Amino acid sequence: MTFTVTPLENVGVEVSGFDINEPMTDESKTELKALWYEHAILLFRNQDITPEKQIEFSRIFGPLELHPLKATTRDEYPELFVLENGSENDKFHTAYYEGKEVVGRLDWHMDLHYTARPNHGALLRALVVAEEDGLTGFGDLAKAYDALDDETKTLLEKLEVAYTFSMQRRHMRYVNLEGYEPGPYSPKKPSDVNFPDFPDAVYPAVVTHPVSGRKVLEIVEQFLDRVITPQQFGLCNDESIELLERLVAHGQKPEFTYFHKWREGDMVLWDNWRAMHCTTGTKPGVKRVINRTTIQGDITLGRVLSS
Ligand SMILES: [Fe+2]
Repeated sequence: MTFTVTPLENVGVEVSGFDINEPMTDESKTELKALWYEHAILLFRNQDITPEKQIEFSRIFGPLELHPLKATTRDEYPELFVLENGSENDKFHTAYYEGKEVVGRLDWHMDLHYTARPNHGALLRALVVAEEDGLTGFGDLAKAYDALDDETKTLLEKLEVAYTFSMQRRHMRYVNLEGYEPGPYSPKKPSDVNFPDFPDAVYPAVVTHPVSGRKVLEIVEQFLDRVITPQQFGLCNDESIELLERLVAHGQKPEFTYFHKWREGDMVLWDNWRAMHCTTGTKPGVKRVINRTTIQGDITLGRVLSS
């Protein structure tokens, strides 16, 4: 089996020229996995695929995670997590941006980053797409690292950063809160939505990818809280805050990001150890359905701050 690899805008590639329903050799699987590590974000289009096939295809990249929230999985496929806009649940994910009501918007993040053990990756397949909005953004933090100046790279080698889990967006220090208002049903604490609480997770500011060895800028806006003991590294608190602001903005530059406008049947796979993602959300009442499979994270990349 041969794959055709076409670059997307800025980061990631589209992989085509093969039929997902044809049996795949071990060599082809190895090649696909290598493409995943090389490009971090893979788009597949126009594949005729069933939920069983999505699960089987996802397993090429590693063992799958069963989602802990039963309500969001389908009984027959516990590996499949259904992301749905346009249902009764929308009110919990609704907030106001510049006075406009938006459902399901999420800041740049890496999945399960707040646990110190992020997922290895995930694959999304669009079943029902929104005519407008509903984009998913992907950001390549290895490319963002490579583009930093040497002085910043040297400084980052020494630093650790803490991530503080919180249910309220307005408690996050590095997301853009301008024009933001929570919705009337926005959860105020984890127990409001039967979610556990988490202590802070700490990461090196630059994480070496466990498989590819690429250096990854481990700075994402969601839950980002502080540099650990900045004074030990010659930074006052103000300088450490400005450094994080600069790095958050750097990672989000257009040259390191790709925003996917979904078509029905599109699949996107990303490496959650290297790429961050975000969602732009949809207008209230707009239907959007995505089937998601998740590749387990079998390595702890950060540490839990226990004292
Ligand atoms: Fe996510």
